[in-house]
Amino acid sequence: MATDVKLGETPDNPLIEGLERLPVHGTTLVIFGATGDLARRKLLPAIYNLAHEGALPERFNLVGSSRSEMDHEEFAAQAAEAIRQFSRREPDETVLKGLLASVRYVGGTFDEDSVYEQLSTHLDAYDETAGQPLNRAFYLSTAPEFFPVIIGQLGKHKLNRHEHAEVRAIIEKPFGTTLAEAKALNRHVLSVFKERQLFRIDHYLGKETVQNVMAFRFANGLFEPVWNRNYIDRVEITAAEDLSIGTRAGYYDHAGALRDLVQNHMLQLLCNVAMEPPVHFEADEIRDEKVKVLRSVIKPTEATVDDIAVRAQYTAGTVGGEDVRGYLEEDGVPSDSNTETYAAIRLEIDNWRWAGVPFYLRTGKSLARKVTEIAITLKPVPHLAFAQDGSVGVRPNQLILTMQPNEGVSLSLGAKIPGTRMRIRPVNMEFLYGTSFMSQSPEAYERLILDAMRGDATLFTRNDEVEAQWEICDPIVSKWEATPGPLPTYEAGTQGPAEASKLLEDGAEWRAI
Ligand code: BG6
Repeated sequence: MATDVKLGETPDNPLIEGLERLPVHGTTLVIFGATGDLARRKLLPAIYNLAHEGALPERFNLVGSSRSEMDHEEFAAQAAEAIRQFSRREPDETVLKGLLASVRYVGGTFDEDSVYEQLSTHLDAYDETAGQPLNRAFYLSTAPEFFPVIIGQLGKHKLNRHEHAEVRAIIEKPFGTTLAEAKALNRHVLSVFKERQLFRIDHYLGKETVQNVMAFRFANGLFEPVWNRNYIDRVEITAAEDLSIGTRAGYYDHAGALRDLVQNHMLQLLCNVAMEPPVHFEADEIRDEKVKVLRSVIKPTEATVDDIAVRAQYTAGTVGGEDVRGYLEEDGVPSDSNTETYAAIRLEIDNWRWAGVPFYLRTGKSLARKVTEIAITLKPVPHLAFAQDGSVGVRPNQLILTMQPNEGVSLSLGAKIPGTRMRIRPVNMEFLYGTSFMSQSPEAYERLILDAMRGDATLFTRNDEVEAQWEICDPIVSKWEATPGPLPTYEAGTQGPAEASKLLEDGAEWRAI
């Protein structure tokens, strides 16, 4: 297989130092739901890119499984097509051919014993060819209603353990749609697998820019002393999307914005901002710190939901110059749906570091543009020695960690406008990934698939963590479900509903999207 960077080789270019790959034990990766949207758009292209960079183990095999009937060659052709369409780099046909040369496919419904019998046969055959037992990773990329049955069947067919190899299960989101469901799913999964074998996906954790929040906080002495209630006024986390729900009505109308993005991705961002420094950069130590944050969040109650949470739906409008339909007119959405496409909440973390600092979280579909960022606003300076006359204004410092697009960090500072008078206006100090690191960042799924194969669970959600996330979101979801619509609305392509400003302090405004 052609490679750009060989295993163990450190690139000469100092700008891409640190991106060298770590060794991975030989693995067979089985994808359930291998013809689905996620596999086609993200997983198969991610696997290709790992192959392209020489990051896959030398002995790597891929098995696809889904309901459609087809032979191995047809699946290989479909996978190649998906990779050509969605890979972040144009595929090298030799690498692609090498990757898919011995791919296997198993068709059938996930409750059929024959699916798992065939899987066992293929897994054993790969081990035979390798001359040693390979690790096994089962990736559940199906609709969530199939998670319990697949897990149960893997257990029944003794595919959950191997005497001489590691067996791992990677589980996609959503992990439950309520607290009760998440708990039941955890119980079931943990009756078949041990926690150390489990990798619950939250693809935001695989993003370089999300990992950088921790690097930024804990690798710099400058920020940590002010990273607390004494200096920070508020934290605003935004995950805005310009895309509508597209063809995902079947999933989305049952989920809504809060379950889709807040319960997982946005609470992870909050944890990255708010957690205490772990003693070691080790999976359980980091996750222990995150769980502490989640447990310190003041839980919404039926009585507080209306004060701390706002939901809304988009109506027809224009996004990026294109006319888009309203949510209720989207294909597959019931015309009386009460599902929110926008959610904003205000949380408080009741601990020594954060007591009294509001954390505002908002997300929505069909907004003005795509932007994911964390904005940390410091308290205003206590005293200004110079008159503000003629100033554009002395504003509190704001630190913006931008996850996407324009990945980077910027800090707003007050600076003197050149001239004879002491006039101040905000200027920005900026770090941009694109200019400091020349290499293109890997896609989140590349990192996550590799980490799961290496058995490193740092960037995956632990059982208690997912339940702690649900404890925060469950009261909001249930209150909303019990409260009839119609919901507040916002025009597609705008900043979101006017109602969202009621969460902020008097006179304050959300950052422009
Ligand atoms: C997914 C949600 O988890 O995250 C989608 O289901 C959303 O609705 C997506 O569009 C956003 O991810 P990203 O990486 O594009 O910010």
